[in-house]
Amino acid sequence: MQNAQDARNVLKLSAAIIVAAAGGYLVFGGHNKVERVDAATVRTENAVIVDNPKKARAAFNEAVKVFFSARCINCHPAGDNPLQGNDSKAHEPEVVRGIEGRGNEDIQCAMCHLETNTVGENMPPGVPDWHMPPTAHKMIFQGLTAAQLCSNLKDPLKNGGKKSAKEAVEHLATDPKVLWAWNPGTNRAIPPMSHEDFLKKMNDWVVNGAACPK
Ligand code: HEC
Ligand code: HEC
Repeated sequence: MQNAQDARNVLKLSAAIIVAAAGGYLVFGGHNKVERVDAATVRTENAVIVDNPKKARAAFNEAVKVFFSARCINCHPAGDNPLQGNDSKAHEPEVVRGIEGRGNEDIQCAMCHLETNTVGENMPPGVPDWHMPPTAHKMIFQGLTAAQLCSNLKDPLKNGGKKSAKEAVEHLATDPKVLWAWNPGTNRAIPPMSHEDFLKKMNDWVVNGAACPK
């Protein structure tokens, strides 16, 4: 540590959340300041983020196609029952969200959904702790417009209590349920772009100021 500026940078970084994103890292500092760095080694001369609503909206309008794909919709439905299949039909047997998103006292997700996909057609997919969002934070994607979904992602009351869009993006980089969508098991379509491209677009949305489509 050579000088006071270095010391401040170290403090700033230790308070930051570092997200491993495709080909780079996002560093989320305080005060809504987001800095982008392109290597595992976090450097101090990060470019300052400039608000560019046009770029942010364009990136979100692409990324939102993933949110609206069956893999995500099926766990983020408008109602209180998960959906299934590429056409998001009713889940068989009928199961309910329950308070915690893990079903009710009669039937729990974990009775069928194991920690990995069960091999074979129409078999239950799985990741550790397979469940849908809880009653208090339903995080509905189904039936929303891109603008609504976008503003929900920035609203702690609707995004699962996360403080910011940046934290929601962190979830997208690391959550096993999200990653599962690109490894969903037999006969299930994957989202319309790679996970890497998806993160890149969400990253572009955040670093350009996270404006929402109108
Ligand atoms: C197996 C069910 C399941 C699938 C599949 C799923 N999610 Fe979720 N999602 C959840 C649950 C449950 C939560 C609540 C937080 C938690 O418990 O992880 C959540 C939370 C979120 C959040 C809120 C952010 C946060 O930090 O809590 C976002 C954004 C999200 N999911 C995006 C997606 C996207 C995009 C996909 C598809 C690529 C997807 N999810 C697929 C169950 C799922
Ligand atoms: C009795 C067994 C059983 C229980 C309990 C169960 N599921 Fe399922 N679930 C399945 C099976 C089997 C499939 C696969 C259906 C298929 O692909 O045809 C499935 C598929 C799904 C899918 C669709 C995956 C996709 O994108 O196609 C979601 C989402 C889902 N379950 C969520 C839940 C949630 C949430 C719970 C608890 C509230 C739950 N399930 C409880 C058996 C069960």
